[in-house]
Amino acid sequence: MSLPKRVVLVGPMGAGKSTIGRMLAKELGYRFLDSDRIIEERCGANIPWIFDVEGEEGFRQRETAMLEELASEAKTVLATGGGAVMRPENRQLLKQDAVVVYLKTSIEQQVERTRKDRNRPLLQNDDPEAVLRKLFSIRDPLYSQLADITMHTDRKSPRLVVRQLVNRM
Ligand code: S3P
Repeated sequence: MSLPKRVVLVGPMGAGKSTIGRMLAKELGYRFLDSDRIIEERCGANIPWIFDVEGEEGFRQRETAMLEELASEAKTVLATGGGAVMRPENRQLLKQDAVVVYLKTSIEQQVERTRKDRNRPLLQNDDPEAVLRKLFSIRDPLYSQLADITMHTDRKSPRLVVRQLVNRM
């Protein structure tokens, strides 16, 4: 098996990017990176605070800077935020030296896995399901175009997803 220089996980909120990413990194002997968590560490504040104070645009600028910095990190598995694919320059950075994996997940699973989550500003409203549907309709084609591997995650344990991914690399 010849391993990719790095693996980048994309997909919507609730796809399991962090859980699967951490397990996959362990399996490959790679370092796990989570761009949202690193942004929070650097900023000394959580994502809701960044959205509140700097707006979504402020967060997106931080996100692009982070993806640029992480694009040259070899032997890593990178979990990205669900909106990372929106900017064309981000898509370039995500593709760089990477096998891109799209963790494809139904709206029902996204809703289930993000229920009562306070750390996702885009879902703090009366109808998070409608938001997830809207975002999915815009972003699903972008995730699909970018991905080298599309892996369905519904009704699968993270362990099974990781095993199937390793088999496809
Ligand atoms: C976002 C997804 C979040 C985070 C931010 C915006 C999005 O990451 O980056 O709240 O635009 O879908 P997760 O996909 O890890 O929840």
